[in-house]
Amino acid sequence: MIGTRITAIGTYVPEKKLTNFDLEKMVDTNNDWIIQRTGIKERRIARPDEFTSDLCISAVKDLMQRYNKNLDDVDMIIVATSTPDFPFPSVASIIQENLGIKEAGAIDLSAACAGFVYALHTAHSYIAAGLHKKVLVIGADALSKITDYTDRSTCIIFGDGAGAVLVEKDESSKSFIGFHLGSDGSGAQHVYRIGLSKKVNDTELLDTQYLVQNGREVFRWVVRNVPDNIRKMFKKTKTSLNDVDWFIPHSANLRLIEPICEKLDYPMGKTLYSLVNFGNTSAATIPLALDLGIREGKVKNGDRVLMYGFGSGLVHAGQLLEVNFDEVKNESRFL
Ligand SMILES: CC(C)(COP(=O)(O)OP(=O)(O)OC[C@H]1O[C@@H](n2cnc3c(N)ncnc32)[C@H](O)[C@@H]1OP(=O)(O)O)[C@@H](O)C(=O)NCCC(=O)NCCS
Repeated sequence: MIGTRITAIGTYVPEKKLTNFDLEKMVDTNNDWIIQRTGIKERRIARPDEFTSDLCISAVKDLMQRYNKNLDDVDMIIVATSTPDFPFPSVASIIQENLGIKEAGAIDLSAACAGFVYALHTAHSYIAAGLHKKVLVIGADALSKITDYTDRSTCIIFGDGAGAVLVEKDESSKSFIGFHLGSDGSGAQHVYRIGLSKKVNDTELLDTQYLVQNGREVFRWVVRNVPDNIRKMFKKTKTSLNDVDWFIPHSANLRLIEPICEKLDYPMGKTLYSLVNFGNTSAATIPLALDLGIREGKVKNGDRVLMYGFGSGLVHAGQLLEVNFDEVKNESRFL
């Protein structure tokens, strides 16, 4: 298998903050309830004229500037998102043109909140098989565009953001240690946005343009399944929690991360999440949390990081990774 490594990372969140106190004025909720049930304090909201492709481009520009990276020879672009600017064309093709990348394949990947890990796995597979050399992977969502701000059960949770990484061939690297993927379509009706069909698993779906979720069911499924699947990944790859310096679960909700850590007997202090200031940004939560960890001086080259995404589908994906980024050339502001 050909060696593969993440060489650079960049992130972006929109300027506008939506705090719990702002939400108190919009729906029947309060700061204490939101903090107690989710751990979220505020989220970022894209401008009306700012879409997922714009968030992606800003995250990639952050990556290029920090690591002095030239992306002319990127040969594949993968964007994980549930909120593309259009059903088609893809976000990946929009950013390919905008970034002036000439000879690259471009695809969007649909795996909801597990999308970034699926995209990373895809990039690794392409490179390990010798088919590609330099893959740009982005997890980005503008969930505010599909959130009903009169529904207090969802509008308190979601926010907008993007995270980009460059995955490159590196013969000497053994960075990608192990992975685990899965899907349980029997729960497809628990988180969705209506499409051409209005029915799944014989369940009639709500006919609304907004994201719909049964928070309780998702909560139950995650706590029941994610720790077991993480254990399966360890078994398959002959690794254990002792090999994990930092755990980065999808930042859905702090009250969801706590029981996962409890069931795994893994310390919350070694767990990274991006939800406190950014909310649940779906495909962006994991790269945002990783970048926060890097910028706070927690995650260092040589550390082993376990990412685990889960969400609508219901799908899940994990990746155990030894991080070894290139040296940062220019620090940039992180909002
Ligand atoms: C959404 C979520 C925070 C709701 O928390 P919960 O503890 O399950 O809350 P419930 O929906 O059972 O509601 C409990 C009570 O709080 C009320 N409530 C719901 N939202 C509220 C809000 N924003 N503010 C105040 N009260 C609220 C409910 O009406 C209910 O009141 P009742 O007992 O009088 O009927 C939680 O279920 C969750 O995070 N689930 C996972 C969702 C997720 O991560 N989705 C992303 C997919 S990856």
